[in-house]
Amino acid sequence: MCGIVGFIGQNEAKEFIIRGLKKLEYRGYDSWGMALKEKDKLKIIKETGKIGSVDERKILSGAQIAIGHTRWATHGAVTSANAHPHTDCQGQIAVVHNGIINNYQTIKEALLKKGHYFSSETDTEVIPHLVEEYLKSGLSFLEAAKKALKELDGNYAVCIISQNENQILAAANGCPLVIGKDKNNFYISSDILALQDKVSQIIFLKDGHLAQIEKEIQIFNLKTDKLTKINFQPMDKIKKDEGLGSFKHFLFKEINEQPAILAKIAQMETKEIETNAALIRNSFGTFMVACGTAYHAGLVGEYFFAQNAKMHLNLSLASEFPAFKGFLTDKTLLLAISQSGETADVLEAVKSAKTKSVKVLSILNSPHSTLGRLSDVMMTTPAGPEIAVLSTKAFTAQVAVLFLLSRAINSDLVKARKILESASAAIAKSLSEKNIQKIKHLAQKIKNTQHLFAIGRGLNFPTALEAALKIKEVSYIHAEGFAGGELKHGTIALIEEGVPCLVFVGNDQEKDEILSNAEEIKARGGYIIGIAPENHQIFDEYLPVEDLPAVSPILNIIPMQVLAYFLALEKGLDPDKPRNLAKSVTVKYPILHRVGVRKW
Ligand code: M6R
Repeated sequence: MCGIVGFIGQNEAKEFIIRGLKKLEYRGYDSWGMALKEKDKLKIIKETGKIGSVDERKILSGAQIAIGHTRWATHGAVTSANAHPHTDCQGQIAVVHNGIINNYQTIKEALLKKGHYFSSETDTEVIPHLVEEYLKSGLSFLEAAKKALKELDGNYAVCIISQNENQILAAANGCPLVIGKDKNNFYISSDILALQDKVSQIIFLKDGHLAQIEKEIQIFNLKTDKLTKINFQPMDKIKKDEGLGSFKHFLFKEINEQPAILAKIAQMETKEIETNAALIRNSFGTFMVACGTAYHAGLVGEYFFAQNAKMHLNLSLASEFPAFKGFLTDKTLLLAISQSGETADVLEAVKSAKTKSVKVLSILNSPHSTLGRLSDVMMTTPAGPEIAVLSTKAFTAQVAVLFLLSRAINSDLVKARKILESASAAIAKSLSEKNIQKIKHLAQKIKNTQHLFAIGRGLNFPTALEAALKIKEVSYIHAEGFAGGELKHGTIALIEEGVPCLVFVGNDQEKDEILSNAEEIKARGGYIIGIAPENHQIFDEYLPVEDLPAVSPILNIIPMQVLAYFLALEKGLDPDKPRNLAKSVTVKYPILHRVGVRKW
């Protein structure tokens, strides 16, 4: 969460800083800010809200050194005072930070006693003040920053500049930071996406390392204080975000990319699938960890493996994984599923598993991520950069890869590929203009509902959970998904006249039971929206999908993604950047205790 950028070179810094922040905005958009080094002064700009519409020409600065930040608030409300960059008492040192400093309160108290005054409620602000403190004691900028960083307990990616120095210091510990270069300039970013089209070479900063960038770059290991080897790698292999094209929103664009992505997955290399299926088959227990939508994909995977491979995979929300750590041995396999590869809970689960010599296989959409670097084996979902905060194409890609793996266990790949090819064609069909218009009208009809429920059985229980998540996160309608048999164990009390209920009905063994669950809801006044290959009498609204029971979650979720999109539009909301969210959840939890704030 939060995006940071830095620039030092011969060009004007503001161009990359603004463009970079716009690219990173999906990581957090509560506020934004930048510090530009102009001769011997720092110009600080901070604003609440999104940087999206800011015009670069209005930022007057010829600075060649600058840092920038787009924030997802953890410590302190969404105010311009809490926006980054943060500075020391004199406004001479500026810092942008992604991550959380756990011991900031202790540091802050000590600094307050020494006479420092703080302008924000953030954990970050202790960093410039610590640097200031060590500069006062006579250390150089580099040594002061090193000493300050060594005092921090927590995760960080930071960029630090000083009005008196022609350099940027960039450091990482548990949060990603990538440095790119072209002939005359260095570019820093918390996400490789901001560097595309800019640089020819990149290097990922390792945990516990600090880069000092002037005309040249040096990288220090903060533990040993020694210089490390610098190995830049070519940028050309990184997948690009192609922009919006003719679409108005990334969400709708990404929904529409799914047929092509599925067709690609149907062609995935046999060796890769079979080798990884063998890893699962031969492990002494496979655990899956994931969060949010990726967790729902994992849940579909659990059903796939049960049905297709007669194997039980243990799925856990990554944040709940500590409870199951006791079962890990060096023969266990951990299957981590993630779009971003930067989700803090997933990374923590993986790191803790690695301490027990557990092998880590990941299904990952961002191969150049921290999870990619931590994994022993990685299967990349070829969905390309996912920009909308709602995960759509990454979900169907994860489900498709899990389907292939589950079928490969019993050497059934040929048929599985054909099923995915059919799924690709079926999705393309369900995204026809006629169907889109139908879903748009449905969104107009139900946009004012307070509550909405979704039910499915078997493979479509996770579909119901995912449908509810899509709808609630972007339309702010309270939506809950259930296994068909569960609603009557309590939540049915909330069904009253006109409450919309999404029901997934397939031509499978669950059909009769899910239809009778729909009857139970209808008997209490529920408004039944059926998602099925054919219309049923009980449906008040019908959204058609093709009949492909083996992978029905892939087909059934498409109209739900479209419905979520139109609900957001109908309610005048931004479908790409819902409130309170960020694309990558790179922090585990904010520390909520505060220290008094002195304004100045
Ligand atoms: O990048 P990841 O797949 O690890 O992210 C996991 C969740 O944070 C993510 O799926 C989240 O739930 C999305 N907002 C869902 O649309």
